[in-house]
Amino acid sequence: KDDRIAHISSTIRVIPDFPKPGIMFQDITTMLLDPVAFKDSIDLFVERYKDKDISVVAGVEARGFIFGPPIALAIGAKFVPMRKPNKLPGAVISEEYSLEYGTDIMEMHVGAVEVGERTLVIDDLIATGGTLVAAINLLERVGANVVECACVIELPDLKGRDRLGDKPLFVLFSRYTISFCW
Ligand code: PRP
Ligand code: MG
Repeated sequence: KDDRIAHISSTIRVIPDFPKPGIMFQDITTMLLDPVAFKDSIDLFVERYKDKDISVVAGVEARGFIFGPPIALAIGAKFVPMRKPNKLPGAVISEEYSLEYGTDIMEMHVGAVEVGERTLVIDDLIATGGTLVAAINLLERVGANVVECACVIELPDLKGRDRLGDKPLFVLFSRYTISFCW
């Protein structure tokens, strides 16, 4: 396995019980303080996607905006922001999705992606998968060809990967957040 991944993982701080009891928050801001780790994370995605004929990198607000743009620039793709509601000024297409409590809305500008464009969806982390499913749905509703989703971290015990169905998911590493007792 790539040495760079162990280093990246070591820079991502875990804050227990944030934003609420029982959540082990994966804080990527500490990785951003380490320029080697941050660059290596971008390079690992670029190495995977540079020759895949991707013309759109779609990033999910907010933390997908940190990783998506440098990847898009490096592979020569456009960057499309998937935003929280009522932020985008032009005509939008919206998708409602469920969170642990209640629902949220994701929006994208109409016309940002052309029918058939090979699209990569980027976020920092997959937990339940609801966020990535919403992004895929929005993109596919405008005819995008979503070839893969990519995240830095997967929390496998939340089974988000299952919600993506057949859609490929690439992650740099996984972290288990449940502790087992015997
Ligand atoms: C976090 C994380 C992912 C999402 C993953 O974002 O950045 O986008 O949750 O969760 P899921 O797989 O269960 O959908 P959050 O909504 O906390 O907002 P932020 O990125 O704006 O901080
Ligand atoms: Mg997020």
